[in-house]
Amino acid sequence: MEVQKILIMTGGGDAPGLNAVIRAAVKRAILGYDWEVIGSIEAFNGVLDDPMRVIKLDQQSVTGLLMRGGTILGTSNTGGPFEFPLRRPDGTVEVVDRSDELIRRLHRIGVDAVVSIGGDGSQRIAQGLADKGLPIVGVPKTIDNDLDATEMTFGFQTAVETATDAIDKLHTTAESHDRVMIVEVMGRDAGWIALSAGVAGGADTILIPEIPFHVERIAAHIKRRRKAGHHFAIIVVAEGAFPQGGTALTVKQREAGQPNPILGGVGRWLGEELEHCGFHQTRVCVLGHLQRGGVPSPMDRLLATRYGVAAVDLIAEGKFAHMVALRSDDIVAIPISEAIARYRNVNLDCNLMRTARGLGICFGD
Ligand code: F6P
Repeated sequence: MEVQKILIMTGGGDAPGLNAVIRAAVKRAILGYDWEVIGSIEAFNGVLDDPMRVIKLDQQSVTGLLMRGGTILGTSNTGGPFEFPLRRPDGTVEVVDRSDELIRRLHRIGVDAVVSIGGDGSQRIAQGLADKGLPIVGVPKTIDNDLDATEMTFGFQTAVETATDAIDKLHTTAESHDRVMIVEVMGRDAGWIALSAGVAGGADTILIPEIPFHVERIAAHIKRRRKAGHHFAIIVVAEGAFPQGGTALTVKQREAGQPNPILGGVGRWLGEELEHCGFHQTRVCVLGHLQRGGVPSPMDRLLATRYGVAAVDLIAEGKFAHMVALRSDDIVAIPISEAIARYRNVNLDCNLMRTARGLGICFGD
């Protein structure tokens, strides 16, 4: 198959480094293969809209993108071609499958192959489209680092940096006031951000979805610290963490076409529980979308750039239905089906977990 024109799309929640992938992929496609590149606005919605919203991506349009957060293409974490939320004139929403129509539209505008930059939801869509014969390759993105088959997604390291910076700042105020300070971080059902930022920021308690916690064990840990002369405590809690016998708290359910509920509230809940245990100066800070914003860290820029170049090379090799992945400091190609087969939780036996346990960090278990 001779490739002349490729389309790039960014799907799911944004993450620092998306623009760096776009830049690298565009440069590689033009300089290495002399292909034409276009981008779909707001994931695949741009191709499905009338009139279509697709833009030409040339070298000029990616100048200065390396350090820019967000995505110049826009993104969406609702729906997708297989579960497209169609809003009726009466305000009701019907979820319809527009995947065949998407493929027809891509053919009509002469697209030979697609680069799908996204997390597990986007890669699931990519696999579905590949099964229907669309030549597509994936690039793993998400601050949550919860995509299997790659050692790291881009966006994660910047999120950890942002969370660590926040923990550093909360440390000084917690210490001044002898307070218990709870920091709620993102990560969905995986505790990677909480664990990494917690260890990097010197937290004394880290709560992750993989280890249901007991409030009384956290309280006992804070009391032991106080006896040892430390009158403040820093607790990092992942938004998906939950007490033993409980479930993760949600802020609200998603609308039609949205796969996951919006997690949140465990920090505030825990704060109230600890106040009941006698820690009256407990304060809660929810970092939220700060973790998704801003300039990508140098490590994320490097990873994003390596992924962008490798994804275009995959197209040149005709290796479709594959995703680029980081393995032992090399970028390799793995079947997308492998990446979406399992959710990537924190391995409780990994070195970082053992390090944290070795430091006496409490996990509430
Ligand atoms: O998957 C990335 C992520 O930021 C999660 O950590 C978080 O649970 C979710 O997206 C938030 O989604 P939204 O941007 O729709 O609020």
